[in-house]
Amino acid sequence: MTKAELYSLYKGVYVPSSLYTPHSMKYYEDFSFRQDDIIIVTYPKSGTTWSQEIVPLIMSGGDQASVESLPNWERVPWLEQNTTCQFNLETRPSPRIFATHFHYNMMPPGFFEVKPKVIYVMRNPKDVFTSLFHYSKAASYFVNSGPQREFLHKFLDGKVPFGSWFDHVKGWLNAEDKDHIMYITYEEMIIDLKDSVARIAQHLEKPLDTEVIEKIADRCLFKNMKQNKMSNYSLAPRGIMDQTKSEFLRKGITGDWKNQLTVAEAEFFDEVYKDKMKDVKYKFVWDQ
Ligand code: A3P
Repeated sequence: MTKAELYSLYKGVYVPSSLYTPHSMKYYEDFSFRQDDIIIVTYPKSGTTWSQEIVPLIMSGGDQASVESLPNWERVPWLEQNTTCQFNLETRPSPRIFATHFHYNMMPPGFFEVKPKVIYVMRNPKDVFTSLFHYSKAASYFVNSGPQREFLHKFLDGKVPFGSWFDHVKGWLNAEDKDHIMYITYEEMIIDLKDSVARIAQHLEKPLDTEVIEKIADRCLFKNMKQNKMSNYSLAPRGIMDQTKSEFLRKGITGDWKNQLTVAEAEFFDEVYKDKMKDVKYKFVWDQ
């Protein structure tokens, strides 16, 4: 299958055509947000699934029922993939929790009017690239990613599904009204998951006892999530995700890019990063 058949352009960004149909995009554009909706926003491979475990556990006060009974994509559905309204988003009780991989300027009009709470999770782009390169072998919506060097250039040019990591991060960091947006990184979650859970709970105005926070953090450890069939994508049909090629919950660490990129590739990455991020004031853990 060719790229043209697999991807379509939405506001200038490649999106997988099989998931983003004209019907689902119309639904997305007309979506009615509620004030107490919660949206997890990520560039792919930045900690989406992890957040789809953490946020429902926070909102349920630590009750594990939803993470044990609902696959992550049903528990926290993608806003822009709701082809047949299969998850009854309108009738879900508040607070509803959604996920999206879309850039800030791809959000629908209702989002800017209602300003629901957002948790924007970022990850070192070299690790995002590494994770994506492995994932591209398993996910059916990827055209053969080709040799690593070629894929690296495509990634840095934004010629991959969901476009440029740089544009995604800069767009969300430059959001006009930031009061409803919390910024957090995958690296902070790795360094101190309990503190990250507590901070997310605070942003969501959900006070939790230390004991509950500890229980949630433990449940969301990589080794525990990997065992959870509702979160490890083992329920996804092999035609969509073939985990014999690469596991979805693959390594769950920071700095794996050091095992993946050659010295020359890492240096090239740094050059591009330095140029594209030169005006960004945000202090990333990975830059320190
Ligand atoms: P790796 O491929 O580096 O292992 P997303 O859900 O946004 O697609 O991101 C997937 C990445 O997050 C994968 O990274 C996956 O292993 C990692 N991940 C998922 N759950 C995690 C957890 N509980 N702790 C650490 N990393 C996790």
